[in-house]
Amino acid sequence: MSDVFENVMDLAKRRGFIWQTSECYGAVAGFIDYGPLGAMMKRRIEDIWRNFYVIEEGYYEIECPTIAQEAVFIASGHVKGFSDKMCQCPHCKEYLRADHVADGGGISGASTMTNEALAAAIAACKCPACEEVLGTVEVYNFNLMFATTIGPGSQRIGYLRPETAQGMFVDFARLLRFYRDTLPFGAVQIGKSYRNEISPRQGMIRLREFTQAEAEIFVHPDKKTHPKFARYADYTMPLLTYVHQQNGEEAVTMSMRVAVDKGVIANEYVAYYVALTHDLLVTIGVKPDRLRFRQHLPDERAHYATDCWDAEVFSQRFGWVETVGIADRTDYDLNAHAKQSGTPMTVFIQYTEPRKENRRRIIPNMSVLGKQYRQKAKAVFAALEHATPTADGADVVVDGETIHIPANLFEVRDEVVDIRGEEIVPHVIEPSYGIDRMCYAVLEQAYDEDTVDGEKRTVLRFSPRVAPVQVAVFPLMTRDGLDTIADEITHTLKRKGILAEYDDSGAIGRRYRRQDEIGTPFAITVDYETKETRTVTVRDRDSMKQVRIGIDTLPQTISALVNGDMKFTSLPAHQNL
Ligand code: GLY
Repeated sequence: MSDVFENVMDLAKRRGFIWQTSECYGAVAGFIDYGPLGAMMKRRIEDIWRNFYVIEEGYYEIECPTIAQEAVFIASGHVKGFSDKMCQCPHCKEYLRADHVADGGGISGASTMTNEALAAAIAACKCPACEEVLGTVEVYNFNLMFATTIGPGSQRIGYLRPETAQGMFVDFARLLRFYRDTLPFGAVQIGKSYRNEISPRQGMIRLREFTQAEAEIFVHPDKKTHPKFARYADYTMPLLTYVHQQNGEEAVTMSMRVAVDKGVIANEYVAYYVALTHDLLVTIGVKPDRLRFRQHLPDERAHYATDCWDAEVFSQRFGWVETVGIADRTDYDLNAHAKQSGTPMTVFIQYTEPRKENRRRIIPNMSVLGKQYRQKAKAVFAALEHATPTADGADVVVDGETIHIPANLFEVRDEVVDIRGEEIVPHVIEPSYGIDRMCYAVLEQAYDEDTVDGEKRTVLRFSPRVAPVQVAVFPLMTRDGLDTIADEITHTLKRKGILAEYDDSGAIGRRYRRQDEIGTPFAITVDYETKETRTVTVRDRDSMKQVRIGIDTLPQTISALVNGDMKFTSLPAHQNL
């Protein structure tokens, strides 16, 4: 087979999966359009994601604007730190990712070098655009957020969000109320995010506008044991830890339980979502042997993360591609937004039994002190509450001035009080999915060519759950009422929510090929026997085998086949034609 990437993108363009955006004006790198079949496939992948996270995990979906005010991204750290290292080729003037130039030149450790050291290191590298040796260049930080202003003539700065996650953090107090003030809880978003990538040259892999599906799960910092961990405790897969990477070793296969017990994965929450992500990616059609989980190296982690694992999918063109990130973001974001906004972002955790605590209260003589200190009295009382009294009295500092309060002007009372609970800042576990990369992986891995009746057949071997068209319906001939029956079947299936495509144009073999090429998993043919027995043939795209089944059972059979509840091979064998 020739280059899979070229073949996939050619098919994707020809058959309406992926197009260059605003092609008639000349393409802009980093943006794509999903055509009719691509948009449907993407929607199906998103719906599988929703099934896992919203339906099964119970994390409700919210929808926040894609533009947010500057304060949000000052707090999140994106204004200051969300940048890539950039340089400009002195020969062709192309802007380049300096770290990518270093990688291409076999120079390691670019991410931890200073800009000056990186500039010196890449001087001998070739420009990937014009192939000239770069020579002296300046490396500087380029912030990846798209900036805008909000309102006419306004000086109010806004940014297009670089991740959907911040919406869940800034809505924390509302979400907490929605979930009746109880941890753990989660919220998700599927939507567009934006990053002004310096030189996106990798098709669907590096986009300036892309779709993320992110879950933010708020947990007690001391209870990172997932309530449903048993579901994935024995789930086994190869894990490439940061220690393996540092020692140049291979990934080691282990269960999630062992990974947590050995401290390879930081906690049950991260391990649970590593396994769930594996499950989800395999469900959409990623082959397990082209999927690995790689732990971030300590110097590679985002500023907010303590542990982070990437699901990487192997691409024949791009190598291992980071497709999902699963991070323990700790309390970084909630603390930052609480500080920036002045809104507390804590949860009151009630103790099972109130705890007794000795408290010393200092009770001021309000009438004397009130008269003496007038406007300052309130501040004096507040400061006195925290003072350390001696036999002589207590010193308090108000507006920078030290004031001595004699001992006869307050009373010290030692009490035993009931403490019912405490305010804590939850930690956040974040599985973050790049939907476009998942779409590319599905397309690339589904692409296949084989030979049928001496002719090349191009086929997208999609999982029936992601195939845009779920079933094709063909009348063998467009006469003798076969077309009417096929049309009725199409309508019946559509009424059941199945995307069925009627096609009566050309020889039956050609019609099968057209559907194989867009990955339609099943094809129904209405023939002369249909009129006699009210049965049709159902053909499986991959095996090209056919079975005969009754028209009346079609809706439930096709539904079960496309939902993955039934396999084609489990249809009664005696019906094989
Ligand atoms: N929210 C994680 C990321 O966008 O990378």
